[in-house]
Amino acid sequence: MTGRLVVVSNRVPSDGPPSGGLVVALHDCLHENGGVWYGTSGQINDAPSDGFSDVAGDGYDMRTFDLTQAEHDGYYLGYANSVLWPLCHRRADLMALSTGDFETYIAVNRRLAKMMARELRPDDQVWIHDYHFLPLAACLRELGVTATIGFFHHIPFPAVHDLLALPQHHIFPQWIASFDLVGLQTQRDVAAALEMYRSLVGAEQLRDGSLQYRGRNFEIRSFPIGIDVDAFAKEAGRRDGRALLNLATDERLVIGVDRLDYSKGLDNRLSAFGQYLEAREDGDPRASLLQIAPPTREAVTAYQNIRSEMERISGKVNGLHSDLDWTPIRYIHRGIPRDTLAALYRAADVGFVTPFADGMNLVAKEYVAAQSHEDPGVLILSQFAGAAEQMTSALIVNPYDIGEMAAALRTALSMPLAERRERHEALFKVVQRDDIGHWTDSYLAAMARIAHKPLVAE
Ligand code: UDP
Ligand code: G6P
Repeated sequence: MTGRLVVVSNRVPSDGPPSGGLVVALHDCLHENGGVWYGTSGQINDAPSDGFSDVAGDGYDMRTFDLTQAEHDGYYLGYANSVLWPLCHRRADLMALSTGDFETYIAVNRRLAKMMARELRPDDQVWIHDYHFLPLAACLRELGVTATIGFFHHIPFPAVHDLLALPQHHIFPQWIASFDLVGLQTQRDVAAALEMYRSLVGAEQLRDGSLQYRGRNFEIRSFPIGIDVDAFAKEAGRRDGRALLNLATDERLVIGVDRLDYSKGLDNRLSAFGQYLEAREDGDPRASLLQIAPPTREAVTAYQNIRSEMERISGKVNGLHSDLDWTPIRYIHRGIPRDTLAALYRAADVGFVTPFADGMNLVAKEYVAAQSHEDPGVLILSQFAGAAEQMTSALIVNPYDIGEMAAALRTALSMPLAERRERHEALFKVVQRDDIGHWTDSYLAAMARIAHKPLVAE
């Protein structure tokens, strides 16, 4: 690779070893190639900083900046997580459009661009991540930065119909066109982005697949993100998940693992499990649902509401179905380390992944990677997870249809070994083929190719 690799994401692993799929992948990539990683420090400061703090990474540099309280509220909690997140997850009804948040979001992107522009070199390859920094390339270009700039949008790309609910939707095509390479998770996302260009600004794909808008030539392509399959598979065999949970010998286990986010379909998932229990016949095995749902973005009202809803439904189902020696839903509102998660996935007969909308959903891939090949569990997967585009051998469900999900649980819990093995083999193959190394390598190869392509004159 020519030039430095420069990564930008809202969160950086500045307070200890990296955890979480994306952060681990970028860490490995920077560790291998060297480079710089920019992001927020996680600290709140009284005044906006005009420079970065240095944090030593393992083989690379981290450059972090503090937010003020007003910036944290307007940029992170406000425009990023109360406007763009619901918009991209097809919940425009949950958008909280507060005066000033958009301006704060732009101001944080401008400040970061100004501080970065002083440090960037023309041959750098800059890789920006996620919806916190959609305008960052446009801000950098305004300051004369000519480096190759890529973007990866980890969450779904909004359909035009949804995008129109955003008061600032007309700026979207301009923000996106300021990147050289725009990576999206799925073909469905690419189709949505192309449709946005076609219908909002009349820009069509050129013969070579690139787009041209306002004198800029750029590419939009899908790069489905993956996981470190080998590491997960190895980790899963280290500990006995059933023993960790103290499960009875004949007790079956269904597992769900999600940040407590309204996009994850947790309310319908719990209701579907309740419906499954209601329809259970005498002699059916006892199945428990282990739902791990750590808190996230708790200052945002929509997240407070989904938490209350979870507590209500799990209380209702447990009240109805618990026995003296059994509680059917174990709901843990706390983060669990990934090595423990791996053992719990392995112990579970069913992975229950039912988002209403999700960019990819790494949990679906982790569940598959953690299964034993001899006696694998069954993945139930929402048709609206990005992962469903690749993982077609899962039991695909509609997360709005509670009855269908209850029936899928019944099917999964009684699936014969031969069918479980056949489905697992097919799923494992795709998860292994498109692993995290493949994701970073193919994205960076596309960036390197584009870096050598002449720019269209402005
Ligand atoms: N995760 C974790 N501990 C938890 C819950 C989740 O380490 O208690 C990890 C999980 O293993 C996965 C990631 O968080 O790697 C969640 O990624 P996913 O794509 O499923 O959803 P996102 O949170 O990015 O929307
Ligand atoms: C999703 C987003 C990431 C974000 C993560 C956790 O995976 O794509 O950008 O970091 O959720 O959310 P948080 O708001 O806690 O960073």
